[in-house]
Amino acid sequence: MKSQRALLALAISASLFTLAACSKTDNAAGTPAAAGTTAAASNETADEFVARVNKTVKDITPEITSAAWLGATFINADSQRLESAANERFLTINNGFVEQAKSYDVAAQNPQTARVLHLLKVSASLPAPRDPAKLKELTEIVSRMGGEYGKGKWCVDGKDCKDIGQVSEILANPASTYEELKAAWEGWHTIAVPMRKDYQRFVELTNEGATEMGFGNTGEVWRSGYDMPAADFQAEADRLWGQVQPLYEQLQCYTREKLVEKYGEQGSVDGMIPAHLTGNLWQQDWGNLWPILEPYKGVGSLDINGALKKQRDDILAEMVSAAGGMGNLTAAEQVEIERKADIEMATRMTKLAESFYTGLGMPALPPTFYADSMLVQPRDRDVVCHASAWPMNTEGEVRIKMCIKPNEEELTTIYHELGHIYYYLAYKGQPPMFQNGAHDGFHEAIGDTIVLSMTPDYLASIGLVDKPAVSEEAVINSQMRMALAKVAFMPFGLMIDRWRWGVFDGSIKPENYNAAWWELKAKYQGVAPVGARGEEFFDPGAKYHVPGNTPYTRYFLSHILQFQFYKSLCDAAGHEGPLYTCNFANNPEAGKRYWAMMERGASQPWQQTMKELTGGEQMDGSAVLEYFAPLQTWLIEQNKGKTCGWEQPAKS
Ligand code: ASP
Ligand code: SER
Ligand code: ZN
Repeated sequence: MKSQRALLALAISASLFTLAACSKTDNAAGTPAAAGTTAAASNETADEFVARVNKTVKDITPEITSAAWLGATFINADSQRLESAANERFLTINNGFVEQAKSYDVAAQNPQTARVLHLLKVSASLPAPRDPAKLKELTEIVSRMGGEYGKGKWCVDGKDCKDIGQVSEILANPASTYEELKAAWEGWHTIAVPMRKDYQRFVELTNEGATEMGFGNTGEVWRSGYDMPAADFQAEADRLWGQVQPLYEQLQCYTREKLVEKYGEQGSVDGMIPAHLTGNLWQQDWGNLWPILEPYKGVGSLDINGALKKQRDDILAEMVSAAGGMGNLTAAEQVEIERKADIEMATRMTKLAESFYTGLGMPALPPTFYADSMLVQPRDRDVVCHASAWPMNTEGEVRIKMCIKPNEEELTTIYHELGHIYYYLAYKGQPPMFQNGAHDGFHEAIGDTIVLSMTPDYLASIGLVDKPAVSEEAVINSQMRMALAKVAFMPFGLMIDRWRWGVFDGSIKPENYNAAWWELKAKYQGVAPVGARGEEFFDPGAKYHVPGNTPYTRYFLSHILQFQFYKSLCDAAGHEGPLYTCNFANNPEAGKRYWAMMERGASQPWQQTMKELTGGEQMDGSAVLEYFAPLQTWLIEQNKGKTCGWEQPAKS
């Protein structure tokens, strides 16, 4: 994900020209506080207003993001207090801006000023009430939920506690038994139970903010940020899902059959996949099921996990031998050397990802990136391990925050996060209000497009796998590897906000929070829990983006867009042959096209930016289908004679 700037809804706009032209009238000399809180001059022109907004955002961003960074990397009562106070200050300022933006006739402005006014009105991911007491309450709840997720641990009888990394390892381990998987899955979901009350209140408060901004509810605000009417956007998401749904259903069917082969009757719940059996806490990435889903055993070895683990062990062995052997070290020194090896490994993985971007002609990451990022989980405190990428200011100071482990999923997540980072760097010349994605799905798609270029050829070129086999079997194996990450994700990417849109618009009531969650999981993903998940649970809260209040449809859109971007960059690179064989690494033409697209930021409607890169103005799932054509044919063949599909459970 992107950083907390999403939460803060700092998305704003104006041109440098406007900013410069109006600088004599803004509060240039003021402190950030003065710049932000000074009541708007009622005679301020729209251009002047926009210049002031940009200036304020530039001035307050460092302080707000520093507070958020502390809140996420040093969770305790103090950092939460600072974080929520900073958010409170920001949201108060933002509310004033939104209100003032409404007073201008947008149609009468120059295009850039008009766009800023528009963005101000639709870019709040956390609409906040005007009432100062309620606004404060909202920011405190958001910080509390975020902190609780970050601290979350599954404990048995108050001891033997496991954090998200440890629980995920149990889920991912092919040697875990059915019962161990179930216990770990259920265990993680205990962390969300205390969030239910807070979430309910959070919904009331943010909806009040949305109403004051002139929207029906917060979900409607979220759907308004796509340069099209909110109602059209919902239909657009449905249309895109309709394009890829048949492919997903084939993958679901094949996977379920393999689970039934392994677990017998326990491998399926009425045709649905048991929630604790996908190798992932939320059933969003099925890559860990590789041992049972690999179509052709051992063809074109893609054992990236094995390669990464070995690298990490080699690093450790080298460090230990330089220190005279383990026997030479105290217990404390042994812990220390393990940690050093983890940091070295995480840094190497990050540099590997960076080299893809620099290979395209993009700049090296600034030195502060490596000095200030959090790449591994600290031993001495709670942090939010969920990966994120941060612009600390509006001038290119960037960081990531991750708890990197040496495995394939984490490696691709680094490539993903650096996509955000390079977007920040590419658009840092834009005025602060345009320093954002063309839409939020673009932001999530930058790095994932690069991940699509991590073909067996590319992986071999960086020494992670042997020279790839060339055969039809190898194609299917490598397509399956990609599908388990990408196709499995698609309905998940959609269902999270189907749930939240319903919660915000009141069609899902608090007494139905959990039931509605599982209805949507069933409907879109065809997954189901094996035990009853009644209203004493709050299972949505066990997924980071719910307590973190990060809109999620962006990830669904990204999973469509990234195939379109990939295809365009492959064209730019002069690729010939089937789409899935394209690797545009080190191609300067692809790099130039990509960078030019990213430089635009949010300065124009996304359709225009899309057109500049792809030639078309629409999101479209046909590149997904083109890419996965061999696998889809293969899956249909495998599933012949099986009863695919699942029953929609009755609505509660
Ligand atoms: N990029 C991911 C997300 O956007 C981060 C992760 O998977 O940890 O939330
Ligand atoms: N990064 C997002 C998540 O972890 C989408 O993959 O949910
Ligand atoms: Zn992301």
